[in-house]
Amino acid sequence: MTTTTELSHLHRFVPATTPGRPPILLLHGTGGDENDLLPLGQTIAPGAALLSPRGRVLEGGAPRFFRRLAEGVFDEQDIRRRANELADFVQDARDVYRLDAPIAVGFSNGANIAAAVLQLRPEALAGAVLLRAMVPLKEAPDPDLDGKPVLILSGAMDAIVPAENAARLAALLKGAGASVDDRTLPAGHGLTQADVSIAKTWLDRR
Ligand code: MLT
Repeated sequence: MTTTTELSHLHRFVPATTPGRPPILLLHGTGGDENDLLPLGQTIAPGAALLSPRGRVLEGGAPRFFRRLAEGVFDEQDIRRRANELADFVQDARDVYRLDAPIAVGFSNGANIAAAVLQLRPEALAGAVLLRAMVPLKEAPDPDLDGKPVLILSGAMDAIVPAENAARLAALLKGAGASVDDRTLPAGHGLTQADVSIAKTWLDRR
């Protein structure tokens, strides 16, 4: 069953069918919506509760989780605002649906906002799977990620995320204490079967 309740973000919620699995917060890429990643969530975390909000920023009609000034050039003030809004949404949804802190699974723009939430509001997430992510904030307070599990999957041929940027994100999160599993796949910006199976194996251990 999928339900929607009045909260700050339009969203879909799929209740858990397997007790004990951490809930999953699904964060879509640019132009996606709350429906996009539900099949991915069901594949990589079968039986887990799925919470899937729609980004509240529109870029030429395409939903996103924060404003950008150009490809890869972010409006960092907007990132701060939107990451805090999203963390508040997660807390409200946890109260309404009675959920533990979720593990974020974000793709592209969704991975970038998840990384920003880790930097700014680390308590909102139990961990994160960051698919094709970049460093969202050049300057942020040093978060205490205290062993939080993070999986970063990057594409060696990604035309949007420079390898150096993905490596910097991994180093930044490790430096803040996260337990980071950082891998580069023979892939571009799009997801591959390898992303799905690595993410599933990693989530099965949580
Ligand atoms: C972003 O804007 O978050 C990244 O460039 C990824 C994208 O959405 O294309």
